[in-house]
Amino acid sequence: MNTLRFEPIAEDHIAPILEIERVVNTAPWSERSFRNELTHPYGVFLVAIAEGKVVGYGGFWMVIDEAHITTVAVSQAYQRRGIGQRLMIELLTRARDNGMQCSTLEVRAGNVAAIKLYEKLGYIASARRKGYYPDNREDAVVMWLHDLPHWEPPAK
Ligand SMILES: CC(C)(COP(=O)(O)OP(=O)(O)OC[C@H]1O[C@@H](n2cnc3c(N)ncnc32)[C@H](O)[C@@H]1OP(=O)(O)O)[C@@H](O)C(=O)NCCC(=O)NCCS
Repeated sequence: MNTLRFEPIAEDHIAPILEIERVVNTAPWSERSFRNELTHPYGVFLVAIAEGKVVGYGGFWMVIDEAHITTVAVSQAYQRRGIGQRLMIELLTRARDNGMQCSTLEVRAGNVAAIKLYEKLGYIASARRKGYYPDNREDAVVMWLHDLPHWEPPAK
């Protein structure tokens, strides 16, 4: 995926993001939630562009010195090509550059793809929230990546 690049979210990205979101997320974010990221004072939200189109997106909020990953997704047709990993590396690098000391996220217990991705990046599962997701009462796994200043991205 040589043409892959990352841009901060902009108005033009909202429509293609919503198209992807409807397909890949069982409980999709609303348009309003994405619009909120356009001007979020403590947020960083990036869009992955390849072959001239939006193929993924993700962001984090800076909570004191913790980077809380809010969402990450890759369009179905572009999954398993390393885009999710490169997007997360970009987010974590920017979080570190913004002085964040660690990162955390919540993920559905059954979302094996995402859990594997986060583990590959160095996140460790540290708690389970029973029945956390309202749509299907699925548990959430809470993951943390400690010591972001000394974090190294995976070699491959
Ligand atoms: C999770 C998601 C973002 C991964 O994006 P992706 O671009 O397909 O992932 P990558 O190709 O960068 O994969 C990187 C690593 O993630 C893991 N991984 C990704 N998809 C996987 C799958 N289907 N099964 C197992 N491991 C997987 C692997 O460890 C992989 O490394 P490898 O290629 O060396 O095996 C993507 O599946 C997605 O958008 N899912 C729907 C939305 C979602 O669940 N988001 C997370 C919410 S918390």
